[in-house]
Amino acid sequence: MTATPNPRLPDGIDIFSPAAYGDEARLHADFTRLRRDMPVAWVDREPYRPFWTVVCNEDIKLVEKNHDIFVSAPRLTLIPKAIEEATLQMFGSRTGGSRTILDMDEPDHAKYRDVSARWFIGSGLRKLTPRIEAIADSFIEKMKSMDGRCDFASDIAVWYPLEAITSILGAPSEDGPYILRMTQALLAAGDPDLQKEGDYGMAAYGEFMGYLGKLLADRQANPTDDLTSAIANARIDDNPIGMIEALSYMMVTITAGHDTTSAALAGGMYGFITHPQEMDKLRADPQLMRNASNEICRWVSPVRHFVRTATEDFVLRDTTIRAGDAVVLFYPSGNRDETLFENADAFRIDRDTSGHVAFGYGVHACVGRQLALFELDAFFSRLIPQLKRIELAGEPKMIASNLVGGFRSLPVRYEFN
Ligand code: HEM
Repeated sequence: MTATPNPRLPDGIDIFSPAAYGDEARLHADFTRLRRDMPVAWVDREPYRPFWTVVCNEDIKLVEKNHDIFVSAPRLTLIPKAIEEATLQMFGSRTGGSRTILDMDEPDHAKYRDVSARWFIGSGLRKLTPRIEAIADSFIEKMKSMDGRCDFASDIAVWYPLEAITSILGAPSEDGPYILRMTQALLAAGDPDLQKEGDYGMAAYGEFMGYLGKLLADRQANPTDDLTSAIANARIDDNPIGMIEALSYMMVTITAGHDTTSAALAGGMYGFITHPQEMDKLRADPQLMRNASNEICRWVSPVRHFVRTATEDFVLRDTTIRAGDAVVLFYPSGNRDETLFENADAFRIDRDTSGHVAFGYGVHACVGRQLALFELDAFFSRLIPQLKRIELAGEPKMIASNLVGGFRSLPVRYEFN
């Protein structure tokens, strides 16, 4: 009989279930305690296969820096065992046969990442900015037309980044509501309100692949200057990109590019409402905007975890991670690490945000980081100078997701100048 690895996560602590992300105060209290007392801990609890928790900022970076030892392909996110088994039976692998750049390891990862990287930085990004600014303006106009009250999460925050990403991919804008339903069913797979009959997003996955396949086939036949055309016609090692890889690419760009930014936008609005002095700072010094967007991402931490699997033994602090063990990187905890951020729980738009891990770290660090920050800049730098006041108009509700989360509902009352 093999002994249970130590140290074990104490029974009363849950930092990994979807439900744990419905109560942020309790979650962050638990993270704080773990960073102090047990930075690496073994978890063997239903419904997941066992894993180690990694909660300190520098440990998250160390694991991601050693990407040749800690690989992504075998297990990328926490999925209930029963679902992993069903997926294994159906597709022959626990990850469902999808091959996104998130699931890939080197050398393939870098080759596929190159297909889209230029769209989200430098001149590629500059080409997109007028479109993003126009979309931001249209949502501020929408707020103005809503009689001083809206649900900021469901009326504004989910739609703005969705419109941005569908426009970049070249999907018809009238498909927005459908794409929204699909991404929510996939990303908040643990939230019973957002999935079909408790199937953990499986039905949405199959259906959405069909939709994306049609879009790719169309752009293969009739290329335009959108990102779907770039993916559909990409060449890897001088061969045309495979269908599974192209579909996975579309899927990851839409899902990663959308709910994450929505969560940051709604979380940022909540940050400003609950810390009005931070809104005043931005009014007084608009140059703070980019730092404010980084602070929003640090404080909100829309992505809650990713998983890596060790390919050889590795000593993390005093704990030996064995070859084959999974480690879970908890980004929200890394972003509240007191060794890097003073008064880490406070939302302060003028703090030094460098070193935050909201966009991950290393070779897999978010390819859309600059785009996401620009979307936040464009929205808040336009909205805040025009706002006379804004306040909560009801109880905010969180999405119960341990992967990508944020507010399901954020009722607000406001007045423009
Ligand atoms: C506030 C918004 C966003 C947050 C918090 C966020 C966060 C993240 C995180 C944590 C990762 C994994 C990094 C790692 O493993 O080290 C990631 C990867 C990725 N993100 Fe984002 N993201 C955001 C917006 C976007 C946008 C707008 C796009 C663009 C379409 C995007 C596309 C991607 C892609 C394609 C990857 C995979 C990169 C790779 O594996 O090489 N993300 N993101």
